[in-house]
Amino acid sequence: MRGYRLDRMRRRVGYTVLGLSGTWLLWTLLPGMPVMRAPRASAEEQAVGEALFEHEWRPNDALARGDGLGPVFNGRSCAECHFQGGIGGGGDNKHNVLAFEAHPTRDNPDVRSGLVHKFAVEGRYAEKTNTLHDFFPIVPFGVKVEAGCQVLRQDFDPVRTESVNTTALFGAGWIDRIAAKSILHHNMTTSVSRIGQELSSDFSGITPGRPRILPDGRVGKFGWKAQFATLEEFVAAACANEIGLGNPKMPQAKPLVRSAYPEVAPDLDRQQFRALVAYIDTLPRPAMLLPESPRAQTRASAGEAVFRRIGCAACHTPDLGGLDGVYSDFLLHRLDDPSKSSNQYGGRETLEVPLPDQHPLPAEWKTPPLWGVADSAPYFHDGGSPTLETAIERHHGDAEPVCEKYSALAQSDRSALIFFLKTLRAPSDAKPAPSAPATNVALSR
Ligand code: HEC
Ligand code: HEC
Repeated sequence: MRGYRLDRMRRRVGYTVLGLSGTWLLWTLLPGMPVMRAPRASAEEQAVGEALFEHEWRPNDALARGDGLGPVFNGRSCAECHFQGGIGGGGDNKHNVLAFEAHPTRDNPDVRSGLVHKFAVEGRYAEKTNTLHDFFPIVPFGVKVEAGCQVLRQDFDPVRTESVNTTALFGAGWIDRIAAKSILHHNMTTSVSRIGQELSSDFSGITPGRPRILPDGRVGKFGWKAQFATLEEFVAAACANEIGLGNPKMPQAKPLVRSAYPEVAPDLDRQQFRALVAYIDTLPRPAMLLPESPRAQTRASAGEAVFRRIGCAACHTPDLGGLDGVYSDFLLHRLDDPSKSSNQYGGRETLEVPLPDQHPLPAEWKTPPLWGVADSAPYFHDGGSPTLETAIERHHGDAEPVCEKYSALAQSDRSALIFFLKTLRAPSDAKPAPSAPATNVALSR
């Protein structure tokens, strides 16, 4: 009798172990059943956040706990750059930001990145692109010996600069709630189906992108290079780098030319910072705005069908991780034309010292969500494409098969596709931005 009981217990333990490991396996294979809760904040917190987002910061500002605006900055308020389609939207090219990345060299093996700020509160802190070479010098032309052979080495300039356009923040709270697992799962399933296609000798598919895995192992979602995993971290960096507002999560940017700039108290206290994050977290999400006439509606859905049929949806994934209508896979892709590229930095091979595997190449950019795209021109990371048509025509590299299908479309299909994209609008309840640029208001006060 005792033996029988023991046996039954052993079996139960066995079943439990089997059950647990089975559940674990299923968990990794399933996309996750994301139940997304709408971002929430109290009206009071939103109001404080909104006021901080629109506030015109000045040096030693009364609202700041530290030294206020600066010492170096790109704008005096968040709304100055984020205004298209309403407060919180994208920005024009005039407000682009100059980002730099210093690539590893033998003497300086880390990748460093930052911004070359447009403005400084004092002339002596002013930053210029040329200044970068004082810190990241060109590795000169020379002859080196490699495996017993003499190899001619060309000058290597480790510094890359990129002018980046302001992205819209509508719906950012929803994007923040997409589980990393959903992005990885989507990437895995598309990669597997691509391998399947190639095994059956079909090479017409789209090269799957890759997730941005940050040095701490998390998946990046925010920024043109998917350089931040959470909204809160991006907001902290935006405060510190764009306006020079130190906050509980990040100290303010110091002038490149004066790293010994004194430490000051964070400009934003915990409560202010939390309110600013809550405001952006709860900004309304973009919406599809369908025209009223049934004929126009048919045209929009025909356009959406073209979008899916020719493969735009492969990267601009309509629904991801339980978020409908976001149109992004949040993966890095290369859209540069390799045959044309004089871009010697495109491939890993031309770097003096290889970039870490997970680090994006200069030519890799995250698929931008297309929700709200009708109200966020100009397009692409550099704002170099003024219209939707020119943005589409700029797709090459990984998107080449789709680009070919797009060029072969009948004119009516092409215009239906554009018509569909134009239904993807900034939220209708976004707060209108003042017509005069905010900076002028402040200066005339
Ligand atoms: C000088 C213009 C400028 C100012 C001022 C500015 N931003 Fe931005 N913002 C940008 C640019 C450019 C980007 C895109 C940067 C990138 O992806 O590398 C951006 C991106 C963002 C993003 C990431 C959005 C996404 O989905 O990837 C957040 C969040 C953000 N800004 C918040 C703020 C906040 C909060 C402030 C005020 C403290 C602010 N920004 C001030 C230009 C500006
Ligand atoms: C291989 C993946 C891929 C495919 C396929 C693809 N895109 Fe893109 N798309 C991207 C990436 C990545 C960017 C950003 C590139 C950059 O900024 O350098 C982008 C940018 C855009 C933009 C500009 C958005 C903005 O906010 O700046 C539009 C519009 C766009 N794509 C539409 C389309 C359409 C329409 C199709 C189908 C004809 C398509 N894309 C196919 C990856 C893709």
